Amino acid sequence: MSERETWATRAGFILAAVGSAVGLGNIWQFPFQTGQNGGAAFLVVYLLAVVLIGFPAMLAEFVVGRGAERNPIDAFSKLGHGNWAVVGVLGAATAFWILSFYSVVGGWVIRYLLASLAEGTGLLTGLVGTYFTTAAGDYFGAIASGPDAILLHFVFMAITAGVVALGINDGIETATKLMVPSIVVLLLGLGVWAATLSGAGAGYGYYLSPDIGAIAANWTSILPAAVGQAFFTLSLGMGAMITYASYLGEDDSLPMDGGLIVVLNTLVGVLAGFVVFPILFAQGIDPAEAGGGGSGAVFVVLASAFAELPLGWLLGTVFFFVLLLAALSSAISLIEVMVSYVTDHYDVSRAPAAAGLGLSIFLLGVPTALDTATLTLYNDLAYNVLLPLSVLGVLVFVVWVNVGSSLDELRLGTAAGDGFAAAWLWHARVVTFTGVFLALVFGVMQQ
Ligand code: PHE
Ligand code: NA
Repeated sequence: MSERETWATRAGFILAAVGSAVGLGNIWQFPFQTGQNGGAAFLVVYLLAVVLIGFPAMLAEFVVGRGAERNPIDAFSKLGHGNWAVVGVLGAATAFWILSFYSVVGGWVIRYLLASLAEGTGLLTGLVGTYFTTAAGDYFGAIASGPDAILLHFVFMAITAGVVALGINDGIETATKLMVPSIVVLLLGLGVWAATLSGAGAGYGYYLSPDIGAIAANWTSILPAAVGQAFFTLSLGMGAMITYASYLGEDDSLPMDGGLIVVLNTLVGVLAGFVVFPILFAQGIDPAEAGGGGSGAVFVVLASAFAELPLGWLLGTVFFFVLLLAALSSAISLIEVMVSYVTDHYDVSRAPAAAGLGLSIFLLGVPTALDTATLTLYNDLAYNVLLPLSVLGVLVFVVWVNVGSSLDELRLGTAAGDGFAAAWLWHARVVTFTGVFLALVFGVMQQ
């Protein structure tokens, strides 16, 4: 590997990591999982999982990345434990698997973007149809699977691989700076509008007042879903955060940076819930069933909102465009891990590496573009098995195998120093480890 650069500024690192973290996981996946797992009961367990499991696990990935200054696979050998490279390989495999259906959902975003544009301009209407006069659920049902979905899955993957092949990620990073604030503003606006709908109250109840009995009764399914969601949305277990942290300087405080990333990312997801649930309930749609098996919840909601709002086509165009940027920046950071590994180790340059990986990922995702039930199946395997297994590997390595250097690494650049590092170690060994382990066991049982 050639000489490594480091982030020019702390803000540069945080923005890039937030750009990777904020994506379909927040806007599509979070309302989907919340609707599948009982609403507020899920929200509570998820927020606990973010704080008690996701945040400490993110620090573990940072420790590996900054400590080794290597890609996620070589990092483990660099730190002196070659066999543990298998953890890096598992992370890359998880990224590969997840990107295969992430891209299908990215294709749905392109479809809604085109349909919004078509509605406003009158172009392409015959080709992409319209969600403005078709019932939102029917439109989603018609576009989610089939030849069109495969084509747009291909387009999304081609853009992702193309950006990486051409090495023009910088452009995307610049766009990312505007993307997160735009998403927040758009969601806030939609959330305020949703609050005015009659019937919205039931949505807030569903989203915000947890039934503790329901958590107790269903915790073997809620826990793996919540932990999986925390990892998915925070970009953990896929090597991405290891990669980002490998470019970090020694004077950055890992806990401060991690904390900021976690808070910003969580805010965007929780905000999406404030849009989705009031609108679903105002329309009398069961969240668990929205858009077929629930995977269409956010699309159904947004489509019906834009269809009703004045200048809805323009709002839709802007919203889906920003969402597409968010999805692309995440997808790029997912594939980049694999591309940089391949180009470091084999005699292959960026373009063919990106094209080959992109094509394989596209093919793997085709079945999920044919049937939303298959997409849900892929998704469950990632949540229940791949993500917890992959994070567990990183965690065990960091808090047991390599613990001395891990603690030193965590202390660097941290004002709080020793006290924080000791608390983190204790917490990670007991609470985080147990949480991920149980999520994995229950997750495997769900499969
Ligand atoms: N965290 C991203 C999201 O919520 C997905 C992602 C995972 C992106 C891993 C990059 C790496 O959409
Ligand atoms: Na996210």
